[in-house]
Amino acid sequence: MNEVSINDILDSDKFLNKEVTISGWVKTFRANRFIALNDGSCLNNLQCVIDFENIDQEILKKITTGATINVSGSIISSQGSQQNIELKVNQCIILGESDPEVYPIQPKKHSFEFLRQNAHLRTRTNTFSAVMRLRSNLSFAIHEYFKNKGFYYVHTPIITASDAEGAGEQFRVSTLDINNAPTSENGEVDFNKDFFGKETNLTVSGQLEAEAYAMSMGKVYTFGPTFRAENSNTSRHLSEFWMIEPEVAFMDINGNMKLAEDFLKYVLSYVIKNNIDDLKFLENRLLDEEKQKPQNERNELSLIEKLNFVIENDFKIITYSEAFEILRNCKPNKKKKFKYLINDWGADLQSEHERYLVEKEFKCPVIIYNYPAKIKSFYMRLNDDGKTVRAMDILFPGIGEIVGGSQREERLDVLLEKIKEVGIDEKELWWYTDLRKFGSAVHSGFGLGFERLVMFVTGMSNIRDVIPFPRTPQNAEF
Ligand code: 4AD
Ligand code: MG
Repeated sequence: MNEVSINDILDSDKFLNKEVTISGWVKTFRANRFIALNDGSCLNNLQCVIDFENIDQEILKKITTGATINVSGSIISSQGSQQNIELKVNQCIILGESDPEVYPIQPKKHSFEFLRQNAHLRTRTNTFSAVMRLRSNLSFAIHEYFKNKGFYYVHTPIITASDAEGAGEQFRVSTLDINNAPTSENGEVDFNKDFFGKETNLTVSGQLEAEAYAMSMGKVYTFGPTFRAENSNTSRHLSEFWMIEPEVAFMDINGNMKLAEDFLKYVLSYVIKNNIDDLKFLENRLLDEEKQKPQNERNELSLIEKLNFVIENDFKIITYSEAFEILRNCKPNKKKKFKYLINDWGADLQSEHERYLVEKEFKCPVIIYNYPAKIKSFYMRLNDDGKTVRAMDILFPGIGEIVGGSQREERLDVLLEKIKEVGIDEKELWWYTDLRKFGSAVHSGFGLGFERLVMFVTGMSNIRDVIPFPRTPQNAEF
């Protein structure tokens, strides 16, 4: 382990004229003299200068892009204009050689697709190391926010027997021999003989279990991996993604919307305060990319301006019915430009509609609430009109839905009625309905898709590029 990191060295002048030892990866080696060394601690490299006349020629040959080296020497003021300080090397040890001819991460621009195929090495690039440092700091900011607000962190299970969010999109967890599974009399697979004595799956959400904890500990949140077996091959869907789900007793839908907005603004402010170098690097990357686009398709705001815009402005809050009216009367609907036309109240909103509202109509984050009951989950609190539920979705520019949440149905009779209506076996949810039998209360929560947040913060346009090793249909390499 490096006692002192490159980040420490570049961060202050307290290492000037001091001896240091650093291990890291060679980014480039120029003129047999200048090594750009990176140890992962920050975006910037440390320039290490060697005196090639006094170094073993065998070692010199092995200082190549991608190799790991350990250098010792003193930190001095740099003569070059690119950096203030540099390391004057007096010893260099080769820790791990690399073959520069075949090393995939050459010092040039690579396509994201190529880098996905080399996901094990892609964090050696500036772009991916910046994205992953931001990802790490965002998760810290999330924990810090909830800790400051008095929430408890609950570890909800990954393996679950409840299939509450919608059947048919879960991954089965089983130890049965798939070629020779035991069957019951009716010929179906006998899951009583499976590991858990029942059918189990990977969870799609920790919400139901978080509700149990909110109903005793008041304010809780989960932050863990969730799994969805939908075959959606889009730039915004993963089969394995991370979700943050706060759940709060005695909080209604209005409190839920306020909490979500405050929370998002906090974590965005956190990275602006703590990760400005990485953000600026990604901002410049995007500016370069923008230059390739025609003028009218370019973003009006730069990456950091966009984050500040969200922090400084109120989210627009509208009901589903208001959103419906806007969409029904908008130009792309009238000119039949939408793939799914909006004609009848109750229609589910597709991403083309969400994007219209956020990017064309309001140009800011939008919260839509009070959705038709028919298009939302069974556990959402029914309104007095009998046809809408206290659901809320938050839509972000360029991302679409980033948060989905609701006030939960706390009335036992209404919940049981709903469970029957959607055809779930009441017995399966015995513990969930118990929560309404023994000391029920108004409560609410939401789920934030972590990768969608990381996309928004980093400006990356494909969700596969904001998680270390993405899982998508037909893809579980690494
Ligand atoms: O809207 P969803 O499905 O809501 C729930 O699961 C609720 N149980 C949450 C709650 O109330 N506690 O998912 C929440 C968020 C979405 O808004 C989206 O950001 C993200 O999770 N998400 C996905 N992210 C990546 N890949 C996928 N396949 C995703 N599906 C949902
Ligand atoms: Mg949703």
